Amino acid sequence: MCGIVGYSGPITVSNKPLEVCLQGLSRLEYRGYDSAGVACVGPHMDQVALDKKAGRLSVLEEDLKLHPLPEAQVCIGHTRWATNGEPNDTNAHPHLSKDHKIAIIHNGIIENAVRLKFELQSEGYSFTSQTDSEVAAKLLGRIANVIIEETGKPNLFEAMRRLGKMLDGTFAILAVDVRQPDVVCAIRRDEPLVLGLGDKETFLASDVTAFISYTKHALEIGQDNAVMVQGDTIVVTDFDGNKVTPKEFTVDWDASAVEKSGWDSFMKKEIHEDPAAVRETLMSRFDLDGNIKLDEVHIDEKLFKTIDRIVIIGCGTASYAGQVAKYAIEHWVRIPVEVILSHEFRYSDPILTPQTLVVAISQSGETMDTLMAIRHAREQQATVLSICNTQGSSIPRESDAVLYTHAGPEIAVASTKAFVAQITAEYLLGLYLAQVKGTLFHDEINGILSSLRAIPEKIDWILKHDSESIQDVAQKLVSQQTFLFLGRNVGYPVALEGALKLKEIAYTFTQGCAAGELKHGPIALIEENVPVIVIVPSACDRNVLHSKVISNIEEVKARGAYTIAIAEEADPDVERYADVIFWRPQCPTLVSPLVDVVPLQLFALYMAEAKQLDVDKPRNLAKSVTVE
Ligand code: G6P
Repeated sequence: MCGIVGYSGPITVSNKPLEVCLQGLSRLEYRGYDSAGVACVGPHMDQVALDKKAGRLSVLEEDLKLHPLPEAQVCIGHTRWATNGEPNDTNAHPHLSKDHKIAIIHNGIIENAVRLKFELQSEGYSFTSQTDSEVAAKLLGRIANVIIEETGKPNLFEAMRRLGKMLDGTFAILAVDVRQPDVVCAIRRDEPLVLGLGDKETFLASDVTAFISYTKHALEIGQDNAVMVQGDTIVVTDFDGNKVTPKEFTVDWDASAVEKSGWDSFMKKEIHEDPAAVRETLMSRFDLDGNIKLDEVHIDEKLFKTIDRIVIIGCGTASYAGQVAKYAIEHWVRIPVEVILSHEFRYSDPILTPQTLVVAISQSGETMDTLMAIRHAREQQATVLSICNTQGSSIPRESDAVLYTHAGPEIAVASTKAFVAQITAEYLLGLYLAQVKGTLFHDEINGILSSLRAIPEKIDWILKHDSESIQDVAQKLVSQQTFLFLGRNVGYPVALEGALKLKEIAYTFTQGCAAGELKHGPIALIEENVPVIVIVPSACDRNVLHSKVISNIEEVKARGAYTIAIAEEADPDVERYADVIFWRPQCPTLVSPLVDVVPLQLFALYMAEAKQLDVDKPRNLAKSVTVE
């Protein structure tokens, strides 16, 4: 959802605070992009200097060229994904206190805003926006003035702690006050906040991408903590003022990872990073004898041996990665695996025991639905292992253990390389369980690992050989309104993922379905030239599955569909029935999702490009969904 960034530097005033915040916002824009704003504070200012505009960050940047802000010592910036109040200039952040001496930016939802607003209105406060955040700004202004009356001096830090205690809901709030012009304060509950440690300067942000060009050293800010930053002085406390020592971590990727580096879009770049995402996620997870070692997971092997059921939770692409892994883990470990959407999990009253392993999958590590599901699972005594791509994020912090995917930062809203990295990590987990429980022989595990190690090269092959033909087909089908995606077994979640990608970024109506379900309803959608994309399993590996899928192609073809198959090289049956084929190299069925998804990612990308849409920032969506 919203992205927040803040900066406090050396005592001298300069343009750097604003520059840092604008650069940070451009990196965080994937979190929300319906409006943006900044607020600056320096010595001798009577009121906060700010600018905010509806629309993309570029609109704000243009306005700042026309109406420059004064040089400053500290700055805060916000990019918004609207929850309360439509996206317009007034509802954009920052929001101001009544006397305009304090400005705040907020990510989250304040659940008691209506009551607080009513109380403030009864004291004569008026409001210009429809946001819950303005209520927090006005309230903070009032608290700050009470503290000045009590003690004779301003104390924004204490005011923020008191504010934190009064707010219900979720928040990461940054605030500046003209009476303390070198200070930025923050409070957080259930919304992300990390600090970047610079030389005589500190950065505050929703995630490390905002400040990675300046520093790789960061601090995780805990739940219900308050922060005071003044240059490189940092104080962290709980809301009662007790000192807290935050956890430090070092980011393991470079600033270049969050640059387009010559690609037209982040999505295109990230699809081309699929091979590296698989390769890196497999790296350093074996001992000298080739056994899988998940030391970083810190769960006792004895506990793993007792696990008798797995529940995978996630949203969107992450949940489809979970559905893929279900087939593999059940086959290898012979224990039931259930996949539940995180937002359905809590309310379905799931049956959990200490022998249940809950696997939470999340690229961002901040999806609120998944975070809430984790809390519920842990309350019910289940062990929670998260599979996550983002260091310092909330989901791994609140899990019993974490297995990181090493896909590198994913910026495009539509998830691509994270999907293949998530499947790789789940497969490592499944094989590890098979190893400790003895459900597969050592050489069987090694055989599967060899097929996994061969995947990056196979994806490279697809990127090299198929891209052009996929682009041609996308251009040809650009005006089609409906697409059907079909798959069986592991091909089914791949079909769902392909349908999601095309829907998300090309705004095309798509339906992904199990190929066997076709005759129970979706076949009614087939008429002349409706495109149907079919994931065809290997004929060598799973013959029965293969022939069933070929029959499905025949069924839709007979009714006039335009059929596009993703199929293993030199499959003669597919050649007979499909109108178009995107070939992929041979691989065993259970690992085939890692290659089958790639043409679908490319197809969605080229369709969106053909429609001249913003591939990286599709309408109404946000990459990190930090509200329930
Ligand atoms: C949003 C994004 C999707 C993503 C899902 C889960 O809906 O648009 O691309 O798959 O959230 O995100 P997570 O960060 O938890 O994997």
